[in-house]
Amino acid sequence: MNKISINTITKISFIAAGLCLCINSGYAQQKLKADKSLLPVIQNDLSSAAAQYHYMMKRVPVDSFPKSYHTTGDSLETSNSGWWCSGFYPGTLLFLYQQNHDKALLSESNRMLKLLTKEQYNTTTHDLGFMMYCSFGNAEKIEPRPEYKQILINSAKSLSTRFNPKVGCIRSWDSKKPEYIVIIDNMMNLELLFWATKVTGDSSFYKIAVKHANTTMKNHFRADYSSYHVIDYNPTTGQVLRKRTKQGYADESAWARGQAWGLYGYTVMYRETKDKKYLDQANHIAKFILNNPNLPKDGIPYWDFNLPGIPNALRDASAGAVLSSALLELSKYNNEQLAQKYVNTAGLIIRSLSSPQYLAKPGTNGGFILKHSVGNLPENSEIDMPLTYADYYFVEALIRYKNINK
Ligand code: GLY
Repeated sequence: MNKISINTITKISFIAAGLCLCINSGYAQQKLKADKSLLPVIQNDLSSAAAQYHYMMKRVPVDSFPKSYHTTGDSLETSNSGWWCSGFYPGTLLFLYQQNHDKALLSESNRMLKLLTKEQYNTTTHDLGFMMYCSFGNAEKIEPRPEYKQILINSAKSLSTRFNPKVGCIRSWDSKKPEYIVIIDNMMNLELLFWATKVTGDSSFYKIAVKHANTTMKNHFRADYSSYHVIDYNPTTGQVLRKRTKQGYADESAWARGQAWGLYGYTVMYRETKDKKYLDQANHIAKFILNNPNLPKDGIPYWDFNLPGIPNALRDASAGAVLSSALLELSKYNNEQLAQKYVNTAGLIIRSLSSPQYLAKPGTNGGFILKHSVGNLPENSEIDMPLTYADYYFVEALIRYKNINK
């Protein structure tokens, strides 16, 4: 790995951040208007979320991670620590603990982190960002322990083993040659790499993240800034072999959660590099989503923007949750008018997700906070169900909304 140039990177980032503050002068300081009537709703959501997770805690088998819930048979669907969603339950517990200081939530999170520790050496998945940064990354911020740093560094190293310089991307899914598969979701795993460069001084992680984001920007996006779900590359030449979908409606459609992952991912890219091209990219993606005639008035997307059955199609609460959280961060980097638009849309989504249509009554829904997400409809999996990541990004959005202007 490439030592030393971290100093240069830190200096450049510092200068860029300074420059950016000047260029954007007023953006960082501007006062955005939060909808005051939403604040008690958010407080109520956070309280019922904590109650739900207490209820869930009692049902989660000792060695498993909650994934979803089937109303029929009242059964919790769980996974082992190697599933891509294993970091969301401890991450959500940590968010809630940060809000209410309830030690029971922290101790349940610590129990899960112990089970998750071994994944730091997992080199068979690109999802280590989701798994380890949403869990240990939050633990490192909220309730740090000395061992967390090394676990996160090892996780970043494991993730980096999947980078192919010829392709310029981290491999998402393993497959038989010749395909080297990269999915838009992978943008969400880069935050871990930025963290690792800051902590270790090793710029390799940073460079991999930047290269992956640039290649993805070039190949995953259409002219209207919607994104493909999957790109197959030739691992030897880096050539694009095919643009397609796996979880969306069609190869040429815009799978809703994928659009939200892209938005969130490029917002993080701008936060971490202060390179304006990522801010532009995030704003373009936001425009595609928010101006889309198929985005319902309540802000909760159908599971794909191009479903022929709209308006008689399923919504994806998880896409709404990721979208609201991403918009709240993106609002911080834009001029007042655009920022306020993002805050208003995020507020609208939060209000919709807080309604009985989406928010589960305490003691129901297997302990999950939200109902009505769509995991992978083409594969007949997790259709119109609660999902652990819908809860995670919803709670993150609630906290971000509460903290507007803080
Ligand atoms: N692979 C992550 C997702 O289903 O969104």
